[in-house]
Amino acid sequence: MSDEMIENDEELGRRKFLTGIIGVVAGAVATLVGLPAVAYLISPGVKKQNEESWLTLGPVSTLAPGVPTGFPFSRRIKDGWVESTQTGVAYAITQDGQNVKVFSNVCTHLSCRVNWNAERGGFFCPCHDGLFGVDGAVVAGPPPRPLDEFQTKIENGQISILLEA
Ligand code: FES
Repeated sequence: MSDEMIENDEELGRRKFLTGIIGVVAGAVATLVGLPAVAYLISPGVKKQNEESWLTLGPVSTLAPGVPTGFPFSRRIKDGWVESTQTGVAYAITQDGQNVKVFSNVCTHLSCRVNWNAERGGFFCPCHDGLFGVDGAVVAGPPPRPLDEFQTKIENGQISILLEA
């Protein structure tokens, strides 16, 4: 083998080595730059953007002792790229005009909506005749547990409930 051929082989080896190094460095740079960009683009799709929030229902003074009062509410929910509206009725009840309990109107059986029914003396679910007492406890029918109760606070005479994300 001539000296010239040996030099050509060494040159070729060096070129391949340098090309490989450049490829590895370019791949690392692309990964470092690309991953945050991809994460930025898909992040709204994978995280819930709603947070807990307090919703003011109305004044305590409007509640008649022992009689639940329904407060309709709605709020926008953003879950990734999907936006929707959550609606419901929060039933507030007080016995003494100071302490207030607020119940969800979602039946704990199969999520139908319950209504206060004075004749039956409770929250009635028309889907399967479920009945909840004024304290939210199950009185009759298939519901497996009491009505869900909102975390509640009263500030300046206004009732607020905590809506979770
Ligand atoms: S959904 Fe309410 S009793 Fe079945």
